[in-house]
Amino acid sequence: MHAEWRQGPSPKQLTLEWTESIRQLFLEGTGEEYFIGSIQSLPVPEWEGNFMLFDSEESSHKSMRGLLWTAPFKEDTVRIVSFVLDAGARGKGWGSLVWNMLAERLLSNNYKQIQLEVRASNERAISFYRERGLEIIQELHGYYRQGLGYMMRGPLRFHHPNNHTPKE
Ligand SMILES: CC(C)(COP(=O)(O)OP(=O)(O)OC[C@H]1O[C@@H](n2cnc3c(N)ncnc32)[C@H](O)[C@@H]1OP(=O)(O)O)[C@@H](O)C(=O)NCCC(=O)NCCS
Repeated sequence: MHAEWRQGPSPKQLTLEWTESIRQLFLEGTGEEYFIGSIQSLPVPEWEGNFMLFDSEESSHKSMRGLLWTAPFKEDTVRIVSFVLDAGARGKGWGSLVWNMLAERLLSNNYKQIQLEVRASNERAISFYRERGLEIIQELHGYYRQGLGYMMRGPLRFHHPNNHTPKE
């Protein structure tokens, strides 16, 4: 698949058509059912930490294949609010690529930590984050409608594939 990550809009900037495509991406990607209004009110500002993956020159809702939304959380910490690729785009390195794009942008703006919430059953995502230096710091009961969640946190840094013990 030829595709590209581009700076993305924030939830509040989206038309209904866009929001509907994202709703479907979330439903299919995470099993999480959102209302249109709850997507538009996600706590994500318009800023450099938002990315979308497109598989055509045109940045349209029809060519969107993935989404990374983040938000400044504390002074030096960024929070991942949503990170989803559609099924056909997974396992090809697109997630790794945007992780490094995010790290590059935010490290130069003095962010040092990254934190997020993930379902305890989402082994793939948890190992993706662990490989990138994040650790489970708290169990979340009642955060997800069903099942246990974890809060994960770690230093914001690049991840170099095939080098699982990167030199600091
Ligand atoms: C989690 C997610 C964002 C990761 O992105 P991705 O593009 O699939 O990940 P990559 O292709 O960059 O692969 C990352 C690692 O996962 C591993 N991986 C690839 N395919 C895999 C698979 N089928 N199962 C488990 N791990 C796999 C790779 O070995 C790779 O390891 P590396 O970094 O050492 O090379 C993506 O899979 C996704 O959208 N999943 C569904 C939604 C979701 O769970 N979001 C997170 C919610 S918190």
